[in-house]
Amino acid sequence: MNGERQDHVPSASTGFWEQLYQGRERPSNGIPNPVLASVATPLTPGRALDLGCALGDDAIWLGTRGWRVTAVDVSATALERASARSTELGVSAQIEFEQHDLAFTFPDGTYDFISAVYLQSPIDFRRDHVLWRATQALSPGGLLLVVTHGSGRPWAWKQDPSTPFRTPEESLAALELDPFQWDVEISGAPERQATGPNGETATVVDIVTAVRRRGGPGAA
Ligand SMILES: C[S@@+](CC[C@H](N)C(=O)[O-])C[C@H]1O[C@@H](n2cnc3c(N)ncnc32)[C@H](O)[C@@H]1O
Repeated sequence: MNGERQDHVPSASTGFWEQLYQGRERPSNGIPNPVLASVATPLTPGRALDLGCALGDDAIWLGTRGWRVTAVDVSATALERASARSTELGVSAQIEFEQHDLAFTFPDGTYDFISAVYLQSPIDFRRDHVLWRATQALSPGGLLLVVTHGSGRPWAWKQDPSTPFRTPEESLAALELDPFQWDVEISGAPERQATGPNGETATVVDIVTAVRRRGGPGAA
């Protein structure tokens, strides 16, 4: 695996996600999240941080486009599979895979683009605090993209019709941003056609928040 493995104390999140990945051999589909792809395509590649990278589709996509990526997950198994795929695809030099339980540790450094795509878990990890921490790790002019589920997926491993979904306004408010320091680039709930692991399709809603830290190159 590229990059440093952080000293890692097993946690409830580690146990839950390790068991899930170890019990599921299914490979990734190799396709980046479409919201991430459309948001990141116009950006100039720099340093990127992918929080909850799973099997690495987004990190690998960013790496192939010239980003230097730090890809983080709590599951060593997910990281090993993601790292192996990055090697197969010849992009491993662009990506450092780091194991963190984000409830306890956060990667060092500053980043030009940070993504948290479906960084959601049944094990509480103080997600709002992690996203606030992500805002602090953005360089001036950097962009944070947060995508969460805004509707159920028929193929989700856990179906709970009572699951509350945040609105775009709630998702943005949870970041507690100083409006003098940040520009809101996206706050919405777009629908899209999504494809499940067995090829089934459904219309799904994403809650999308993209905020840019002011003060980048050329800022007044
Ligand atoms: C719902 S999956 C989404 C993964 C991927 N970003 C995607 O779009 O498919 C959530 C991911 O976050 C990771 N994760 C959950 N809790 C975490 C935590 N406390 N610290 C770091 N990663 C965590 C899980 O291992 C899993 O890979």
